[in-house]
Amino acid sequence: MELVVTVAQVRAAVAKARAEGKTIGFAPTMGALHEGHLALIRRARAECGFVVVSIFVNPTQFAPGTDLEKYPRDLASDSAKAASAGADLAFAPAVEEIYPPGDSTFVEVTGQLVDCLCGPARPGHFRGVTTVCARLFHIVVPGRAYFGEKDYQQLLVIKQMVRDLHFPLAVVSVPTVREPDGLAMSSRNAYLSAEERKAAAVLSRGLFAARELFASGERDAAALIAAAKRVIAPEPRLKLQYLELRDAETLAEIKRVGGSAVLALAAYVGQARLIDNVVLG
Ligand code: PAJ
Repeated sequence: MELVVTVAQVRAAVAKARAEGKTIGFAPTMGALHEGHLALIRRARAECGFVVVSIFVNPTQFAPGTDLEKYPRDLASDSAKAASAGADLAFAPAVEEIYPPGDSTFVEVTGQLVDCLCGPARPGHFRGVTTVCARLFHIVVPGRAYFGEKDYQQLLVIKQMVRDLHFPLAVVSVPTVREPDGLAMSSRNAYLSAEERKAAAVLSRGLFAARELFASGERDAAALIAAAKRVIAPEPRLKLQYLELRDAETLAEIKRVGGSAVLALAAYVGQARLIDNVVLG
């Protein structure tokens, strides 16, 4: 695997692979790679001739005063992991490489997909995500781009942007990879103390309880949400920010599950803000 830091280096490596007839697979990440990220890379490896992973802590998706500075960074360990999962090229640019001084262009999805769940809780967040992904897509020009279902709203927002801006690529979604106790893997799990880490497992347990109730035939939104809350609420270390059931494609609010729905939550565990979801149906 080659590790590069400039746009020109990426373009050269990708041009060579494309000239050899290879499909370009791309997994954008912010580093601190774990098995969730590696699942994207492995899937890309299985489906594409040339696999690019970006490692870039994107400043525009962090609100002022949040965890941009303390976000875990370890490029040596990340490149070793990316290589072991089968990446051909790792792109770890400096901030100025992606955001040249004097730039003033953003890409923003508007409407229902960003006006709910994490949208209001993190103003400007999705605008930062779509801006960096649009820039990275223009640099890498992948045929297939890999995103995790763990960040379900982000996945839908990216799909919307790709459709709207006619990016010539397929967005491929990869199921959430979990720890043995069910906690969704996340770079932010590193912020948890041992006690908080134990408490955090209650989040997925709550979601799974709702999923079981759904499997037994329950379709009422309030009942499904209550089932998850019964498991989560007693844990004093958790502070739920939202726990909502929404249409799995539009994120519109629903009272009953007809087609498929997503039960999504965000919660604070100490300083760490964690998100998780399950898709029902
Ligand atoms: P990051 O949080 O590093 O995640 C990178 C990719 O890995 C995302 O597509 C995310 O959904 C996926 N991922 C994270 N944890 C996962 C898990 N437990 N199982 C499966 N996939 C998982 O998401 C971002 O970075 C950024 O917003 C980014 C898209 C890179 C733009 O800056």
